[in-house]
Amino acid sequence: MDAEAPMLAADRVSLRFGGVRALTDVSFDVGRGEIFSIIGPNGAGKTSMVNCVSGRYRPTEGRILFGGQDITRIGTSRRAALGIGRTFQNLALFGHMTVLDNIMVGRHHLLRSGFLRGMAYWLGGAQREELAHRREVEEIIDFLEIQHVRKAIAGTLSYGLRKRVELARAVALKPKLILLDEPMAGMNLEEKEDMARFIVDLNEEWGMTVLMIEHDMGVVMDISHRVMVLDFGRRIAAGAPEEVLADEHVKRAYLGEADEVVQDQGEPATA
Ligand SMILES: Nc1ncnc2c1ncn2[C@@H]1O[C@H](COP(=O)(O)OP(=O)(O)OP(=O)(O)O)[C@@H](O)[C@H]1O
Ligand SMILES: [Mg+2]
Repeated sequence: MDAEAPMLAADRVSLRFGGVRALTDVSFDVGRGEIFSIIGPNGAGKTSMVNCVSGRYRPTEGRILFGGQDITRIGTSRRAALGIGRTFQNLALFGHMTVLDNIMVGRHHLLRSGFLRGMAYWLGGAQREELAHRREVEEIIDFLEIQHVRKAIAGTLSYGLRKRVELARAVALKPKLILLDEPMAGMNLEEKEDMARFIVDLNEEWGMTVLMIEHDMGVVMDISHRVMVLDFGRRIAAGAPEEVLADEHVKRAYLGEADEVVQDQGEPATA
């Protein structure tokens, strides 16, 4: 990873699905240590953009760079191994498994990639490996304040808690860059405030760079360092939150619809 390069760069990314232009010529970069948000009306291309970063979609044109490395053509699991973690707009927890097991699923990738194994070998033995592993998982559980539900079946939890468990699972991969697609959708005010605090702490204390899609403008403006606005698949503005809010194009294209979009309802969990 090139220490000088931005954490993430999208270079003139376009994405088409048959006749639908989901993204047209979108460029942006996310600096190390930033909280960067993508906003825009429904269907603007936000999830498509994040899917191009995670590797779920491959851009029709343009490039995605991670730490200066061109990752446009590499698959999702290799991107995860490089340090890109994510949560989904629609919950993707294993509903029949416990919270703890759901978080452990996130760790398997680390064990397989030899990161923890190598460290444990150095410390001396499998028992140490297991201990280090558990300690880190418990640290994440503590951090996200889900100790009280660690043995609960994920599918039985409230929506807000399930979103938090999903975040825990993504954090368990120890990503350098975490992609959050509507982390607060369907939450009540208190749950949103908690989630916003977790994201800021992940960024400030855990050093994670955050790329977030969120419809709640209050939260976006509060915690983002920079914001990009998409409209009909095109970038119409980017900059500090106050600059973006003051942008005439943004006011016309997006804020006029704010009453509708802040009312976004969460989706039910899928097992
Ligand atoms: N897999 C797909 N196949 C076909 N069209 C798609 C696919 N994914 C997205 N699209 C289309 O691309 C456009 C952008 O969709 P996208 O989901 O990226 O929007 P969004 O900004 O995330 O919207 P929302 O706020 O509703 O989540 C839409 O017209 C959508 O219908
Ligand atoms: Mg979306």
